[in-house]
Amino acid sequence: MVFKKLFGKKKLSQPVSLSPLVADMHSHLIPGIDDGVGTLEDSIDLIRKLNGLGYSKLVTTPHIQQEFFRNTPTVIKAGLQDVRKAIQDENIPVSLEAAAEYLVDDGFQEKIDEGDLLTFGDKYILIELSYFNPHPNIKGIIFNLQVDGYKVILAHPERYSYWFNDWKKFEELKDRGVFFQVNAISLAGYYPDPVNKIAAKFIDEGMIEFIGTDLHNMRYFEAMERARFEPSLDRLINSGKILNDTL
Ligand SMILES: [Fe+2]
Repeated sequence: MVFKKLFGKKKLSQPVSLSPLVADMHSHLIPGIDDGVGTLEDSIDLIRKLNGLGYSKLVTTPHIQQEFFRNTPTVIKAGLQDVRKAIQDENIPVSLEAAAEYLVDDGFQEKIDEGDLLTFGDKYILIELSYFNPHPNIKGIIFNLQVDGYKVILAHPERYSYWFNDWKKFEELKDRGVFFQVNAISLAGYYPDPVNKIAAKFIDEGMIEFIGTDLHNMRYFEAMERARFEPSLDRLINSGKILNDTL
């Protein structure tokens, strides 16, 4: 037992290449507008590092929430222009787009009704849920998005602990055509137990279509480097189900 605790499960001897993914589609790289990077310098440093891992395209997704991060498409697009210019000045071979990570909160339906939601690829929208309480009308919200032609991606399902013992809730979302995005760093034990085990379960059950870094800062990048030695990430990238490269 002690041995297992100290050394954990078997790791890959070589880090898995992320270049087959082409694109990352979940990160917080626009400085100063959410809990992600704070400065343009940090943003550029991390973008260069992500490019070094094999990504050639980044869709960054600042938080949009009613309470804490009251970002708008205008704010996000302005920030995108600044970061793009810096990427160009620094000659980093990566293309940057911006969408958002929408929290399904009390203000979200109003945003759907207004209709100016930020998307990427083939009208994909990235949503996240509360970590504390299941949303009372999540199925209705998803239905309303889909009626408007959005393809819904649920960010890091492995972090919604209130459904860990209610697995059919996840299956119901899959039955309704919701795409699931796992955080690669979940596989490297970045979050408290049992998030890594739940992430592995989603992978084993073939329920994951997108892999995201959810990069906020340097600590996340270091966890990404560790994740590259996880056999489960290697299996997922080669599962034939991953759609990152279609973005
Ligand atoms: Fe995020």
